[in-house]
Amino acid sequence: MAIAYNKRTGDCGTLRAGDVGKEVILAGWVNNYRDHGENLVFIDLRDRGGLTQCRFNVDTDPVATRLARTLRKEDVIAVRGEVISRGDNVNPKLPTGEIEVSVHEVDLLSKSLTPPFEVADHVEANEDLRLKYRFLDLRRGPMQRAIMTRHKVLQAFREFYYREGFLEVETPILTKSTPEGARDYLVPSRVFPGSFYALPQSPQLFKQLLMISGFDRYMQIARCFRDEDLRADRQPEFTQVDLEMAFVDVDNVLDVVERSLAYVWKAVLGVEVPVPFRRMSYDDAMRDYGSDKPDLRYGMKLIDLTEVARKSEFKVFTDTVAKGGVVKAICLPGGADMTRKESDGLTTEIQGVGAGGLPLCKVVEEGGKVVLQTGISKFFPGDTVGELVTTAGAKPGDMIFFAAGRFAEVCKYLNWLRITLADRRKMIPKDHWEFLWIVDMPAFEYSEEDKKWVFMHHPFTMPHDEDLDRLESDPGSVRAKCYDSVLNGVELGSGSIRIHRQDVQSRIFRMLGLSDEQAMAKFSHLLNALQYGAPPHGGLALGLDRMAMLLSGSTSIRDVTAFPKTQKAFCPLTECPGDVDQKQLDELGINLNAATKARRRERGA
Ligand code: AMO
Repeated sequence: MAIAYNKRTGDCGTLRAGDVGKEVILAGWVNNYRDHGENLVFIDLRDRGGLTQCRFNVDTDPVATRLARTLRKEDVIAVRGEVISRGDNVNPKLPTGEIEVSVHEVDLLSKSLTPPFEVADHVEANEDLRLKYRFLDLRRGPMQRAIMTRHKVLQAFREFYYREGFLEVETPILTKSTPEGARDYLVPSRVFPGSFYALPQSPQLFKQLLMISGFDRYMQIARCFRDEDLRADRQPEFTQVDLEMAFVDVDNVLDVVERSLAYVWKAVLGVEVPVPFRRMSYDDAMRDYGSDKPDLRYGMKLIDLTEVARKSEFKVFTDTVAKGGVVKAICLPGGADMTRKESDGLTTEIQGVGAGGLPLCKVVEEGGKVVLQTGISKFFPGDTVGELVTTAGAKPGDMIFFAAGRFAEVCKYLNWLRITLADRRKMIPKDHWEFLWIVDMPAFEYSEEDKKWVFMHHPFTMPHDEDLDRLESDPGSVRAKCYDSVLNGVELGSGSIRIHRQDVQSRIFRMLGLSDEQAMAKFSHLLNALQYGAPPHGGLALGLDRMAMLLSGSTSIRDVTAFPKTQKAFCPLTECPGDVDQKQLDELGINLNAATKARRRERGA
């Protein structure tokens, strides 16, 4: 009689010493087998719960033992047997290590081919192969744990927001272009040939409409789609914890979001995160860290040395200062021990980031005096050394690295250097969570490329009330009621208080070079609604994938996404995007042009 695998007594991670003597049914995958001759076989049985060692002994059941000898990794079996003690052979590494199951009966439920890589915690296979065989990759312990962490994050967010009175409302996937600024994924319409839906880059306009519809507090675990350059923390489709609230200002949104994050960290990791989170203005973040998402787990703030650089004899510095640029620096504590090879390596790398070089000097003590050594030390006359060292906050044994140029360039170089030094010199404390709000961003930035002002967040963001009268005269000085949630140097989320007044909205569109007609053509559904009684409202969206990545200690959001795409937005598992039948194209009225056909042929399609 077959084993009733549908009546498993538990999973492979639950049995303990207290269960000795019980009769159990387990089912799962063969993780490992050890054949101790004809009479004794051990199999580690694996499922989502963990591993249990199964003992097959000829004396207990010769038929089961014979079958066990034919089993191979990843075969699926069910076993029935008795929990017995391992005596002195306890395996302290396994939660079930005190016991084993003495098998009386085994069923082979399904045979596996030899897997293309080992289903083990550590994997050698490259990512493309892992993605092609994602169903095997997902069986590995770290992947199982990451996906379970993601589930816990989702569950905790939902619990929190439901309790706070947020309604979960789903918004359309087939929709119209949204204003997040990336390229849209388009879906051709069959019924309206030549017309396209856009997949939502976020539910932004719908959640605003829900506020205008009177729902007051909305949340959604929302799928978003963006055709943009991909990185470790970007996927073409990803998930947001999206929310919007009516009758609120900045403080209300930040309060509920930081409490939700503290709730999730407690639920998933058991970690107490103190609220409220620290707030930092965008200007201060750029000045002190050269980044709008600074990692506060370590120091090395950027130091402005423009004044002392002006007095130096280093032409790069004096020229930069004369042109209105800045000279800033990072002081690396204990960095004077850095080898020439290491600093030369950093110079080459920072050149890759765009810098001309990496001027540096060591701070050392000589005959009771603090002096500079190596690098550009000779360009600082004796009377400037004291000022340099004091301004930089340097001590003997430190190294100072400089960057000169326009403010934005210097930010870019020193931000890269700060992150790189902290990482290479192991200055980043483990299990440390530095939550931060970046507030008071500029509403607009000038695009040299387009020769016009463009929005920093999106065009529905409310400017600060006191900056409104400078909207047309000095757009660069207008701050937005906009905020970013940052954790350990990663942007978790971003949001804003929205414009709920038609007059302000029209002024913003005009500023951005959109006529009333153009704005209407793009966003008529929102602009219409704004005329029918819109409450003041605001919200935010958190990147779920990024949070799951940080909470599971992963370095890529691909590792917390069950079926992710590659850097080229390709799915090796399903081989999409893929070709469609000519009939489907005909139905949609789509003709591939000659160049596209040629490119398809080149790909071998
Ligand atoms: P934003 O575009 O800043 O704001 O997105 C919010 C958060 O979503 C995450 N995110 C991504 N995660 C993975 N892959 C991507 N390609 C990707 N793009 C964004 C980030 C980011 O902080 N509608 C506004 C929110 C609002 O104003 O309420 C919006 O989408 O964690």
